[in-house]
Amino acid sequence: ASTDIVVVGSCMIDFVSYTSRLPKVGETIHGSKFVTNFGGKGANQCVAAAKLGGKTTLVARVGDDIWGEKYIENLKRENVNTEFIKKTDNSTSGIAQIIVSEAGENQIVIVAGANAKLNANDVISAKSAIERASVVILQLETSVEVAIKTLELSKGISILNGAPALSTYDLKLLTLPTIFCVNETEAAIFTGLSSVNNVSEAETAARHLIGKGCNSVLITLGPQGAIYLNKDDHKLLHVSSPKVQSVDTTGAGDAFIGALAFVLANQKGVTMEMAMKIACHVAADSVTRAGTQISFPNAKILPNIK
Ligand code: RIB
Ligand code: NA
Repeated sequence: ASTDIVVVGSCMIDFVSYTSRLPKVGETIHGSKFVTNFGGKGANQCVAAAKLGGKTTLVARVGDDIWGEKYIENLKRENVNTEFIKKTDNSTSGIAQIIVSEAGENQIVIVAGANAKLNANDVISAKSAIERASVVILQLETSVEVAIKTLELSKGISILNGAPALSTYDLKLLTLPTIFCVNETEAAIFTGLSSVNNVSEAETAARHLIGKGCNSVLITLGPQGAIYLNKDDHKLLHVSSPKVQSVDTTGAGDAFIGALAFVLANQKGVTMEMAMKIACHVAADSVTRAGTQISFPNAKILPNIK
């Protein structure tokens, strides 16, 4: 039976412009296409797990603008429990301005809007769902206070996605979650290391974060897969990613985390290696299609991962 995944985090409307390359500072360039998509790291991770068949709940805030209602409808269509999503008076929904180049690179600016108003009381309202969940997921597009409160209530596996990254932060962000998960850039910011671009630099970063109090660290490395280290056995795990033609990497990290949570919640006794392998496949698959949530695969992908 499917066990519960609760995500406490952001909903953003993604305004995406596709261009031949990313613009330089002060430069105006022509784009080739514009779309609006449902995004935000919290909702993306939740939908990634839901599409694979996960039983998911999202705790979030949307604005009282036209997007808020549309966003809730979108989540219902994806079978996400929306009972803890509040529409917020006098607030815009979260917005992300995204530029995606032909090489599949992206640049993102987010304006949190209603997401910034998600607070500890909202978390307390969802206390019973959070306590019951086998996996709880958090990010940093909503407040640190929200993340810490949720981590304190969680009784199962908790995953904190440290994104966007912080260079100064409450150490509880490292010590409370079961798994602290970041990408290369975020790992560099959290550790202060000058570069995290390959498996060996990621291992250095992971050891640094374990030294600061993490229970376990997972660093995603895009096409190079992901590494995992936990404080008990100190043995590095590296899982590689299938090679794919990159169309749009936006949200690939979210697909990874949603899939990881889905596997940990539903495959009892699964090894971390297998969970990461499935997550790498799901993330790589999402990169072959444009957009975030709309590009995430459904459960049909699972039997094809060996
Ligand atoms: O991780 C990708 C997401 O980051 C996008 O959907 C955008 O909303 C930003 O929050
Ligand atoms: Na994609």
